[in-house]
Amino acid sequence: MHTLLKFITCGSVDDGKSTLIGHMLYDAKLLFADQEKALELDSQLGSAGGSIDYSLLLDGLMAEREQGITIDVAYRYFTTDARSFIVADTPGHEEYTRNMAVGASFAELAVILADASKGILTQTRRHARICALMGIRHFVFAVNKMDLVNYSEERFNRLRKDIRILMAEFDYESVMLIPVSASCGDNIIRKSKRMPWYGGQPLLTYLENIDVGARPEETGFTMPVQRVCRPNRSFRGFQGQIESGSIAVSDTVTVLPSGEQAKVLGILDGDEAVESASAGHAVTISLGTEIDVSRGCVIHKDSRLYVSRSFQGMLLWMDGAGLTAQRSYLLKTGTQKLPCSLLRIRHKIDVNTGQEQPAENVYKNEIACCDFRTDTEFVFDTFTHNQALGSFILIDRVTHMTCACGTITRSLSGDNRLTWQNTDITRSFREQQLGQKACTIWFTGLSGAGKSTLANALEKRLAERNRHTMLLDGDNIRMGLNSNLGFSGADRTENIRRVAEVAKLMNDAGLIVLTAFISPFLADRRRAREIIGENFIEVYVNTPLDECIRRDTKGLYASASSGEIPEFTGFGSPYEVPEHPDITVDTAKDIDSCVDDQLEALREYI
Ligand code: ADX
Repeated sequence: MHTLLKFITCGSVDDGKSTLIGHMLYDAKLLFADQEKALELDSQLGSAGGSIDYSLLLDGLMAEREQGITIDVAYRYFTTDARSFIVADTPGHEEYTRNMAVGASFAELAVILADASKGILTQTRRHARICALMGIRHFVFAVNKMDLVNYSEERFNRLRKDIRILMAEFDYESVMLIPVSASCGDNIIRKSKRMPWYGGQPLLTYLENIDVGARPEETGFTMPVQRVCRPNRSFRGFQGQIESGSIAVSDTVTVLPSGEQAKVLGILDGDEAVESASAGHAVTISLGTEIDVSRGCVIHKDSRLYVSRSFQGMLLWMDGAGLTAQRSYLLKTGTQKLPCSLLRIRHKIDVNTGQEQPAENVYKNEIACCDFRTDTEFVFDTFTHNQALGSFILIDRVTHMTCACGTITRSLSGDNRLTWQNTDITRSFREQQLGQKACTIWFTGLSGAGKSTLANALEKRLAERNRHTMLLDGDNIRMGLNSNLGFSGADRTENIRRVAEVAKLMNDAGLIVLTAFISPFLADRRRAREIIGENFIEVYVNTPLDECIRRDTKGLYASASSGEIPEFTGFGSPYEVPEHPDITVDTAKDIDSCVDDQLEALREYI
């Protein structure tokens, strides 16, 4: 059967990867006559001294030709008698790591170029590491420029040893080493007579024959739902690509995250009704029972998937702005897309040596192992078990840029799947019992702005009206529940997350909750709103910094200005003013009038 091999070529700037592929296409007579002619003409003007410069074929962009380096991912398609190929030619420079990751994510095999005259360079290690991270399990090391080392077997063997040591770290299925000369054409499409000591196949023959078969680990059936198809009232089908295993009519499947089960009524492969279908096919499945299935759900049978809100992953950070706990990102995995944030950075990997390093931040082109938490539970697997449900990208919610790609290494909720337990006594039952609607009134503002004072006064007025309330105050919570947190950005984020979760629980108990926290970061307050839900009321206590400094009720501003408290809000640490608060308090007024104003503004809630 005529199969397709998708591969990537990686090499440093002068390793000759474009030349290698160019030479392969030229020698194998895979070029159109006009391409061949253009190449011969272009070469006369180029840097190859009049002889054919094969790299011109692959360097698709003008800018690359001008600078003499490859800057984008150039995809080339070619077909030999034995196989079809798509090759991604990616740049070698460190600043183009992102492009390489993109190329690697699509490839089944990597051809990594090493320069026989220079040996294994740090770039070679980086290329291998990124390919391994992106899930490539078949590697070919093309040891190039053998002509420059007199086709020395000894030289090749020395590189072989280094490559074995390098690859020992990774999880791979095959590694092949081929001594080549990209410019002279040795061992590219036919065996070189100049290296009789090499007993293996030339590169093209090897690529034509290697079996890169599917990853075997996941055997159960999994299909992320891409679309719910409802052409008429009598038909409801769930469409998606089968990522693993197979399915047959009348099998019982489970839909996650809900865990509901149903029997398969029918399967359409394209528009043809079939009895069964397997991995790689895009199908429409209809079920015997009406259950709640939407885009992002995963239909599975006999597979072990996680439904959780936290996971550990290995990622390649690609954004100019570093990875921070203060931002909320969109996590995309399978067909799911949901808000998520960083819990902690476990360590960075030195891309060149593979060593783990402790880290506070992750910057562009760095690889790190991190824990993440999503706002709601989602369905996933580990990457080694299921590639589609174990890989992810992170999208910046403001710029919409993809800022990282990565793989899930484990679930952080243990191996047990968690299932939300519905209780018979519900929030609305408890609200009825107390005769009120629950909500959270979230005071934010600088230290000393008057949040605690105002929240306290408002709570008293609510109590007079027989409302059942609870006040969560910054200093008090930090002396108990959050006594292990300080004032770094990450700790403030965690402080606010916990408070939001507690407020939500108290709302579920039917209480009106008032909170008084500086909560200086926009992203944290947005997340608090997401956790708590619709009855979140943001109250901005708008006292200017000068006034807070003048009042200095706790004496902290004096200490901060003398440098004793390095991360004090308004000094070493920022306060991000709310963009659209539900209520803004005019603190020039006296407290009673402020509370009157608030009660008026809160009328629809309480
Ligand atoms: S938040 O930034 O994480 O929302 P939170 O409201 O819990 O802060 O706590 C703020 C209170 O902690 C302040 O009112 C002040 O009494 C005290 N505090 C101590 N150190 C700092 C600091 N570096 N920045 C702000 N507040 C501090």
